[in-house]
Formats: sequence, structure tokens, C-alpha cells
Amino acid sequence: MKHQLLTAALLAALCANAQTRQETTLSDNWQFSHDKAAWTSVSVPHDWAIAGPFDKKWDLQKVAIEQNGETQATEKSGRSGALPWIGEGHYRRKLTIPEGCQRAELVFDGAMAEPTVSINGQKAGYWAYGYNAFRVDITPYIKTGENLVEVDLVNVEESSRWYPGAGIYRPVKLILTRKTHIDDWSIYARTMTIKDGKAEMEVEARIEGPANQMKATLTLTSPEGNTLKSGHLDIADDGSFRTKFSIADARLWTPETPWLYTLTATVTKGTETIDTKTVKTGIRTVRVSREGGFQLNGMTRKLKGVCLHHDLGPLGAAVNKAALIRQIKTMKEMGCDAIRTAHNMPSQMQMDICDSLGMMVMAESFDMWLYRKCKNGYARFFNEWADKDITNLVLANRNHPSIVMWSIGNEIPEQWSEQGRQIANRLQGLCHYLDPTRPVTQGMDRAEQALGSGFAQTMDVPGFNYRVHKYQKNIEQLPQGFLLGSETASTVSSRGVYKFPVVPNDNSKFASYSPNYDPTALQKSDGQCSSYDVEWCSWSNLPDDDWVWQDDKDWVIGEFVWTGYDYLGEPTPYDEYWPSRSSYFGICDLAGLPKDRYWLYRSKWNKEQHTIHLLPHWTWGKERRGEVTPVYCYTDYPTAELFLNGKSQGKISKNPAERLDRYRLRWNEVRYEPGELKVVVYDTEGRKAGEKTLRTAGKPARLRLDTWTQHDLASPTLAADGEDLAFITVSLTDKQGNLIPDAADQLAFEVSGAGSFEAVCNGDATSLESFKSPTMKLFSGQLVVIVRSSKQPGPLKLKVTDRQRGLSSTVSIPTR
Ligand code: GAL
Repeated sequence: MKHQLLTAALLAALCANAQTRQETTLSDNWQFSHDKAAWTSVSVPHDWAIAGPFDKKWDLQKVAIEQNGETQATEKSGRSGALPWIGEGHYRRKLTIPEGCQRAELVFDGAMAEPTVSINGQKAGYWAYGYNAFRVDITPYIKTGENLVEVDLVNVEESSRWYPGAGIYRPVKLILTRKTHIDDWSIYARTMTIKDGKAEMEVEARIEGPANQMKATLTLTSPEGNTLKSGHLDIADDGSFRTKFSIADARLWTPETPWLYTLTATVTKGTETIDTKTVKTGIRTVRVSREGGFQLNGMTRKLKGVCLHHDLGPLGAAVNKAALIRQIKTMKEMGCDAIRTAHNMPSQMQMDICDSLGMMVMAESFDMWLYRKCKNGYARFFNEWADKDITNLVLANRNHPSIVMWSIGNEIPEQWSEQGRQIANRLQGLCHYLDPTRPVTQGMDRAEQALGSGFAQTMDVPGFNYRVHKYQKNIEQLPQGFLLGSETASTVSSRGVYKFPVVPNDNSKFASYSPNYDPTALQKSDGQCSSYDVEWCSWSNLPDDDWVWQDDKDWVIGEFVWTGYDYLGEPTPYDEYWPSRSSYFGICDLAGLPKDRYWLYRSKWNKEQHTIHLLPHWTWGKERRGEVTPVYCYTDYPTAELFLNGKSQGKISKNPAERLDRYRLRWNEVRYEPGELKVVVYDTEGRKAGEKTLRTAGKPARLRLDTWTQHDLASPTLAADGEDLAFITVSLTDKQGNLIPDAADQLAFEVSGAGSFEAVCNGDATSLESFKSPTMKLFSGQLVVIVRSSKQPGPLKLKVTDRQRGLSSTVSIPTR
């Protein structure tokens, strides 16, 4: 609403007087259609496919997944989410252009896919890759008054290895300026040196259009509001202007201190302002070297990273600030300090959040170059578009201090060839040309070939995906003197699901290409993976295996775990099992709820807070009584004693000599009996440091609701902007609050007051219930309901009902 008012009234006034810049986000008043016959009203960001219905027919494929080592094509379902993303989508919207307007531009942060943009029926722009930001100068096509914007999209089958989303899933901005204006992506701030608290920065920008008698000013404002200002700068013939700033007592950006500066470029003619543009940036340096490994501001640190696909689970690909903040905050609380935007360009919204919350980023670009990993993937466009895509990635993002490296690809098959090496060299060179301050990497999965062809040696940062047992051999051939675990782990688990007996295994029994394939295994399966965190894939490993290398070798500069969150599509190891439509790799599930693995990573990565986590749950049926039920404790403490109903099960310490005992405490012989399971932990001095107790739950008695919003955790509120979201975790518990860990009750949700139901997710990768219907079964006793604020303030009420048990609970969230 605010934006609409701005467009109508303010713009008219500003434009009529040959305005300076006006930027408006076009969120509301879009119409959407599949066939240009029936239109529905939507707001952008929008994902047309996320409501479903789930069906294997949408993306059924007969393929061999080469990266997984398959040679025979077999039937795969759910590989890209089993959602209806394939096909055409059309958007249209009116745009009011005020009189006197000299230039208009639309900036798309991404539209899935192959967006064609038309104004008043004339084609104004096109971009091939659905993940990239692009700009369209619409000046030649507009008229004063009402205009029509149309965006036509098409998603072709077998164009993605995961759920790509569908639609205008990232924001669209309208920018009105004078004819002479600052080129938005020309603004560039870079930290040259930091010494004794003093930073040297070089700052530049460029105008387009005639510059006669114009001068420019660049202003840097510190987080405290202190400003450094250039004098009036001359504008060069090519429209550029630049200056240097020396900043005493520079507030350096790090994940722990995410200080942001504001840079403003202004162009004036006499006393008149022609254009002014402001960006956020930060002061920090990044360096990689044999001696120092990865260094931020001269300090060596190992990247504690996770890979993230772009979807937001039940919200689909449609970006949302609250949802992204929840993701990043949850990862930070685990001790994670970096994300890799696998395997494509990030959204601006996500990068802004990483800047302000303090999260380093490896910003990626491609999952394939020329060699097709899937029939209709990006390889179709690579020759014509790769350089343009890298250019937009770097120009749109290079002021984000959070981004610490660019990635030009993931598991590019050409890594074995001379042609591949040349392309790597070219794309890396292009990144350097556009941004000399950041190193460039990519994730390689075929170490021998990549080292044999010189592909790996070419990269600033040689990144290797999995296969830690090859690290030693790799490093011996790398002139760089260090390497990165660009993708690690791929451990699989389902929240709250535990399988017996507990046997570490690589799930190859499910893979028809494996010698261990057991054709009956899939039929007997429930489509879930055990949360004892001992299951991985044939090409991958357990978190513990990565940490051995991270801890023991200085030259391993960090890791990016596959993945921080479950994502839609790629249901390995159940690629051939239906129904299964989302991943099991996540440290958190698709609803954003932590799996046990979250606490394993937290125990290792979070150096600020202690972790004491016990698994499995302790509410088993009669059939487990007396059965061996191993107990694991994830803690940063070295020693612990476990008690079952007061009886000691042994005091044990971490054991660096044993693969699974170096980072976990495991009691493998515990026999289940109901009651109380308690762990007491001891610090390195042998002093008791804490304890944790699990109790067998009684009868289901309550629906517990825990609300998260981005604003105030103690007493959550929502912003009355129509965009804010609250995430309510629903847990079925007994009277004492113990979780009923196997509950699968069907719940119903009703939202009233200042907001609406948005989505629901239980984290079950085999669920075919729509995220967008206000009913869903609990999975392992829990699920998450998402509600959206309205633009009117007032209380938003969510009522959750369990009809089967006659239970209900209500939460009221103030919307301001
Ligand atoms: C990697 C790949 C990822 C994902 C992962 C699953 O090889 O880069 O995109 O497919 O395997 O383990």
C-alpha cells in the first residue's frame, strides 16, 4: 500500500519537476495466468507451483544421475519436488508513469524462467537464466499515464536437478531517474588495506547520459553516523568518478561484528541535484594464501559453512525477508559463519540479511557449463550467456561485505578437459576484472581429473566436493598450498526417526547402480532416514569425517556442509521411491526445525554456548523394552555419564582414535526401559558442568505453540506490512510438556484478525499434503504453521485444532 501511494502521488510531483531518483518495489496489483485467459490477482514475490498438488507425474524422469555414479537410466520421481513448476506463466500489471519522466528502468532480481518483459505490447527485455538479476531500460516503450508491463515465463522439463520454483519469485523494482543518472551497478566500494585500525578504501561510480557542467560527490557514513565526504569530483569522459577514503578507527565487518557503512553517490549541476544513489557496504579484506589459509581482515579462520538451495521449503522459491532471517539466524546460533548459495545467484534480500546479521557467503553461479547434467539445463545457454551472467552476478553484488568469494560452478563435468580449464580461467578472469578483491572458487567432484587437466590448479581457491580421503593426494599437487571442502557430508536423516539396529551405512542398498543394491529394500522402506546421524551416500560421508581433516590439517581452509536445510527435490537415497519429494540432507528439516545433527554441528562450531543434546527420544513402545537402544550425546564437553532410571550406563570420554567417538559420546549397549534418561557432563578439569534429562512421555494432553518472528523473541510481534511472517511450531506433548515423538495427528488451522494463513510444513519428505491447505499431520510430533500479517494493525489469532483428541490451542500475535 505504501508503495502504491508513493507511486501515484509522490512520483507525479517529483517527475513533473524533473525529479531525482525514485525507486519503487512493485509488489502488489499483479495478475497471473497460465494461459492468458483466466487471470488471478497475486503479489510478487510469487511462486505459482508451491501450492501443488504434489504428484509424481509433474517431474517423472527416466534418467541416470551421472554425478551419483549411475550408468543405467531408471525411473526417478520427486527429483525436482513433484510440484507443477513446468510450463508457462504470465504476469501483467499496470504501471503509472508520471508526466515529465525522463528515464524508467525495471530491475528484476530473478524470474523463473527465461523471462521476456514487454511494455505496452512491445518486447523490452529478456534474460535466459532464471536465477540472475537483470535490468531492463523501458524508457523507449513507456508513455505518460497508464502502461502495461507483461512478463512471460517458461519452465521446460528436465531443466533442473532440484525444485527451481516458478514465477516472479524475487522482487521487481521500478527506478525513475532523469536522463542523466547514476548507473546502479557502477557504484563500487572496496577496501584496499587495513592497518592499525586504519582502512583505505577506493570508491567509484559512473553516470550515464550527458554530463555537461555536472560534478559528483561520494560520501561514506559510518555506523555511528560520522561522514567522510569527497570534494566535488570531476566526471571523466566515460562518466566515471572516483575517490579514496582513509578511515581512522574503521569498524570492520566480520560475522561477529557486522558493521555496515553507507555510501552515497550524488551528481549535481550547480545547486541542483541530478541523481543520488545510496548503497550499504562494509570495510573488510579477504585473502587466501598458503601461509594464512583463508583470512578475513588478516585473521585466519576456517569457514564453518553450509550450502543452501534457494527454496524456503513450504514458501517455495518466493523470497521473504522474515523467512530468510529465520534461516540465517538459526544457522548462526549453530555456530555457522558462512553459506554457499548452491548452485546459483543469491537474492539481494538474502545478501542484505547476510550483511546485516553477519554471515559470510560464497556466491555461486552455475551447476553446469556446456556438458548437460540434465537434458534442458543451463548448458543450452552457456555459450551465449555465461559471461553476461557472471557480469550481472558480480556487478549486482560486489558491495556486499558478506560475500567473501565467487563460485563459477558446481561439479562441472568439463573439469577433466583442457576446454574446461580454459573456461575456468576465463570465468575466473572475468570475476577478477569486475572485482579484483575476491578470490574465485568452484566445487570439484573428480579430483584426479581436475588435477590432471590443470583445472584445479587454475582456481584461486581449489574447492573439492566430498571424498576427504583424497585430500592428502590433492594437496600434494596443488600449487595454492590449501584447499576448501566446498561441499561436505551429505549425511541424511529425518527429524525424530530412529532406526534399529544402529548400523553406520551408505544407503547403497537403495541404489540400483550399486553392487549392494537390494531390490526389496525400497519396497520395505518407509522413505525415512535414521536420525542417529550414521547414514550417508556412496560419494559422501559423516560430519565427523570432515572434522578430522578440518581439525588436523592447517591447509584445509573450511567446509560447506550439504545442506543447512532440507530442500524441495533430490530425495536421495529415495530417488526411486514414491512418495518422496524433498531432501534428507538438511541439518534442519524442510520446516526449519533442527534435526539431531543440528546439535552435533553446534557442539563443534558454537564456541560461545555449550551444547548438551541427547538422542534418541525416550518414549518407545512395548516392543523396544529390553532391546538395545543406543544413546548418543552431542556436547562440546569431553566426558559424560549416562543414567537410566538412576542406574549408571558408564562414564565415557571422547576418543580421538575412533572415528565416531572423537566428536560424539555414544553408549551403544543401553537397553530400553521407560522412565528417565539423564546425562551428566564434565569439563576438561573433570568438574560437573551440566546435565540433560529426557523422560518417557505420558498420554497426549496439549498442543504447545511456540512463536517466532523476526522482531522480538520474548514477545513476538508482526509488522503490519502484509509481508511479515510468523512461524509457529506446534508440538503435541503430555501434561508435563514431554513431546509425543511419534504423533501423526491430523491438525487444522484457523487464522483470524490481522493476517492470514500462509503455509504449513511438517518436515516429512514423504508427505503429499499441500503446504498451502490449512490442515496437516504432525510428523514426529511437530510441524510449523506460517502466518502472514495484513496491512492493518491488530491481533492476529491462530487456532490449532486436533479433532481426533479434542484438543486445541490458540496464539495471538500483535501486528503493529
Ligand atoms: C553433490 C551436488 C549437490 C547435490 C549433492 C547431494 O554432488 O553438488 O548438488 O546433488 O551432491 O549429495
